[in-house]
Amino acid sequence: MSKKPVIVFEGIEGSGKSHHINIVSRYLKKRDIPFFRIREPGGSINSEKIRKLILNKNSNFNRNTDLLLYLASRSENMILLKKFYNKKIILIDRFIDSTIAYQHYGLGVELALIKSINKSILSNFKISFTFLNLVNHKNMLKRLKTRNSLNRYDNFNKNFYNKVQNGFIKLSKKNTAKYQIVDSNLDIKVNENLIINKIMKLIK
Ligand code: TMP
Repeated sequence: MSKKPVIVFEGIEGSGKSHHINIVSRYLKKRDIPFFRIREPGGSINSEKIRKLILNKNSNFNRNTDLLLYLASRSENMILLKKFYNKKIILIDRFIDSTIAYQHYGLGVELALIKSINKSILSNFKISFTFLNLVNHKNMLKRLKTRNSLNRYDNFNKNFYNKVQNGFIKLSKKNTAKYQIVDSNLDIKVNENLIINKIMKLIK
């Protein structure tokens, strides 16, 4: 494993993904360990413009347009990601698995199309490790209620989120050594320790 791994945080809304990436960022900052953090959609200046467009509550793009916008956002981020690849630890809040889980498993977009464009955008950029955060529907709704602003994707129904979360799980099962499942229904401190212990091993 590279000492400058690419670490991705995945999961549906309210799964604790962003909380966990914050915990890791704080841990690295405290120890003066350099890292580069980015989110998707968004991150770079151009990607943030695309994020606003996709997630705006009044947007009603069809699923293929949505896919192309997510990939456009990724394509813009790749300039930064390639710059820091193998030079700094990279933390990414959502990446390829989100596209497959949401657009393919959730919305039925053709998998081959997603894979083909991703392959071309990423070229030899590889993910080292993924934390997959899971949450049940009750806890997801509880967490979404505390948010000030909900986006277009926060209003999907239970069935949609089941499909997306099961999609994430299927992806993790294809390469279990590169995934850590984090059950966010469990104790928050236990999960924080689990993640930090794994991070320590990944960057050692
Ligand atoms: P977030 O800020 O909670 O991560 O919200 C971003 C939304 O974008 C979330 O609903 C998941 C969705 N999304 C996709 O549908 N496909 C993708 O490829 C990515 C990166 C995000």
